[in-house]
Amino acid sequence: MNRYILLFTALAGIFTLYGCGNNGAQPTANSTQPTDTVQKDTHTQSNADSITLSHLALHIEVNMEAKQIAGRATWLIENHAKAANLQLDIDGLQIDSVDVDYQKSTFTIGEAIPNLGSMLKIPITPSTQSVTIYYKTGANARALQWLTPQQTNDKKQPFLYTQSEAIYARSWIPCADGPGIRYTYSARVKVPKGLLALMSASNPQTKNDSGIYTFFMEQPIPAYLMALAVGDIAFKGIDKRTGVYAEPGMIAKVAYEFGEVNKMVTTAEQLYGPYRWGRYDVIVLPPGFPIGGMENPRLTFCTPTVIAGDRSLVSLIAHELAHSWSGNLVTNATWNDIWLNEGFTVYFERRITEQMMGKPYTDMLWELGYQDLEHEVADKGAQSRDTWLKLDLAKREPDEGLSDIPYEKGAHFLQLVEHTVGRARFDTFLFHYFNGNAFKTMNTEKFMQYLYKDLLHDDSALIKAINPTAWVYGPGIPPNCPRAGNERFARVDSERNKFLSGASPNTLNDQKWTTHEWLHFLRKMPDSLTVKHLTALDGAFAFTKQTNAEIADLWFTLAVAHNYQPAYPAMEAFISRVGRRKFLLPIYEALVKTPEGKQTAQKWFGAYKLNYHPIAQCSIAKLLSK
Ligand code: BES
Ligand code: ZN
Repeated sequence: MNRYILLFTALAGIFTLYGCGNNGAQPTANSTQPTDTVQKDTHTQSNADSITLSHLALHIEVNMEAKQIAGRATWLIENHAKAANLQLDIDGLQIDSVDVDYQKSTFTIGEAIPNLGSMLKIPITPSTQSVTIYYKTGANARALQWLTPQQTNDKKQPFLYTQSEAIYARSWIPCADGPGIRYTYSARVKVPKGLLALMSASNPQTKNDSGIYTFFMEQPIPAYLMALAVGDIAFKGIDKRTGVYAEPGMIAKVAYEFGEVNKMVTTAEQLYGPYRWGRYDVIVLPPGFPIGGMENPRLTFCTPTVIAGDRSLVSLIAHELAHSWSGNLVTNATWNDIWLNEGFTVYFERRITEQMMGKPYTDMLWELGYQDLEHEVADKGAQSRDTWLKLDLAKREPDEGLSDIPYEKGAHFLQLVEHTVGRARFDTFLFHYFNGNAFKTMNTEKFMQYLYKDLLHDDSALIKAINPTAWVYGPGIPPNCPRAGNERFARVDSERNKFLSGASPNTLNDQKWTTHEWLHFLRKMPDSLTVKHLTALDGAFAFTKQTNAEIADLWFTLAVAHNYQPAYPAMEAFISRVGRRKFLLPIYEALVKTPEGKQTAQKWFGAYKLNYHPIAQCSIAKLLSK
């Protein structure tokens, strides 16, 4: 199983455990062809199509002991279609009272719908200008992870972080929670003294004595980009507009690892136009952060597992930074269009990496991505509807249909377009696409029109060569999918073959291998590997002691698959600490394949589950209950 299957099956798992799994609607590959009609976002119950929500003023207090956020959210609205009610999404929120234009109002809460939460309905008039909701978060707010001091890096203070994408913002803010609905926001956040609060907005760089922090996000954003982190957090600048945040005990390492983030921003700007969000900072969160990275505007949230010490995993930052154009600036209209966010971002991420690290290096990333795509398609089935770029997630949890398809099939499609029309021409097109649609919503159909009119100029030879419809509205990997030949990996293959034919690992030519070469070396090990092989590899390369989380994780899954016991203590230490599901799930999945392994998995999960984010906990619990 590869990373996105893991990311998203993990997310899907939660909903089953919360009693809100998918309702069995599986679209088939012969669904109707696309039309130009704007498709409705089926994952929000808000009526923001008739009411403009222009600004959110948030006024909240974070209680780290009670693990609760309480306060009020004021929405400034324009009721241009004279709707009788404002409908907002909420999930598990306790609504204490509601004011309409600062007068107490009635309200109703609809029943909780699996996956979606409830509709908060507030009567308004055509002239209503503001609606204020007084609320508290619930005990199982899905966006929130509350950490005890013990679960942080420095182990001194508690920590809180949010993860709002795709539809979790509604579990900490009453909002119109659809990617097509944008608004500006301001916030006043009170936190316990000694802690710093940060948001996806203008941010403080130092703590103050009052514990009150104010924020402003002047560019309109959708709710899935709302973010908050609270903890003992230090700041270090990289240059005038970039910097890093982390717990004090990690800040120096983080500053080194991300020391070239400023260059990444200028590289991205040279490709597709100005960075429009003011500052670009990165916060490295405690190890329980359940995903790799999240593109919260102005402040990327990031796992500490990319801090490898040698900058070899910073393409994750290139990815989250690239979202400042693809996703945050031009945003997928619904979660069915998520390839417009993630596929474009993977493509853009690799263009940044190519500029900074060169083509042979970046070709390794393309090849690893192609391998992920192949596995994904094999897993889902070559004809599966879920392998179209345009997804159909109606009546399903939005994260459920997501996988390497939007990421890698999306990126490879764009690479094919680039190769077919030429890089210069494609870059001009993308420049205009990002800048002409800045702060707007995009759906697949509109993008296809752009592609045909502005880039391909309805040229039938180009259209035939690319065959966009097969990619976007068809399954599997189309035969014209580009795949770079890869010299560096070819050398790795030949060293691996030498080893498998009996050569001592000490004689292998692994000089100057980067993380990605080691990943390729281990990924392609055959099933026939024995404990003797693993012992020899460990003796030569000390994989069990690896501090690079990507390599360590792959090694541990091999260790489980081939019962290499000497790796177990280090593996246990790893999974007791790291909460990133992409790493946890392969290990737990490998373990549950044998009865003894399953026992070990149950023992470890029992001991360490509280170190994992609720969503990671649930997906592992589901795996163990099978
Ligand atoms: N925006 C995504 C994370 C996401 C997507 C969360 C959909 C929830 C629903 C983020 O940009 C991302 O793709 N993160 C990847 C890392 C990246 C380098 C591919 C991850 O966390 O693994
Ligand atoms: Zn992404």
